[in-house]
Parts: sequence; C-alpha cells; structure tokens
Amino acid sequence: MGNITFVEHDGTQHTVVFEEGKSLMQTAIDNLVPGIDADCGGSCACGTCHVFVDPDWIASTGTAGDEELLMLDMTPEKMATSRLSCQVQTSVEMDGMIVHLPEFQM
Ligand code: FES
Repeated sequence: MGNITFVEHDGTQHTVVFEEGKSLMQTAIDNLVPGIDADCGGSCACGTCHVFVDPDWIASTGTAGDEELLMLDMTPEKMATSRLSCQVQTSVEMDGMIVHLPEFQM
C-alpha cells in the first residue's frame, strides 16, 4: 500500500492508494483516473495507457521493454520516461511516485 499521484496535462492531480503487485494501469482504472483507456485490457497491444513517469521515479519503474517500445514508437508524444502503465507492476518502492498523463489521451 502507498500513494501514487497521476497528474493530468492541465495540472489536475489525482492521488490514489495502490495495492502492491497491481499494475499501474489497473490502479488508475480502479480509481477512475481520466485518460487511461486501456482498450486492450493490459496486453501491451493498444498504447492507450501511456504515462510519463516523473524522471525522479524512473528508477523505481524501470524503462520500457522491447515489446512495449514497439507500441510506444507509434505515439508522437513518446518521451524518455514513457511507459505503458499496464506493463508497470506497482511495488512498495513506488510510494509517493508521480506520473504524468499525455495531453492527447482522453
Ligand atoms: Fe493496452 Fe496497456 S492497456 S497497451
């Protein structure tokens, strides 16, 4: 258990409690965070769960794997700390983490 803050492009913040082991995508969905559509249900096949991990926290999430990068390469908003939130398993080290939501994912 811990808190993760999702920040919308306009600065609106959503601080939610996460259960360790649940994906970052599922955590967002369960807490009605806007902008995470997760059309493929978490199988790394749609790219609609894109987030930018705050640079201070990328060591906690790690960077995207090869399959994930293929999906991320299809979005013009991709950044160095981009992750597909369905591919990030939450862990206790993520307590206090901040992730940002893309502008064009609503
Ligand atoms: Fe589809 Fe993450 S939910 S890629």
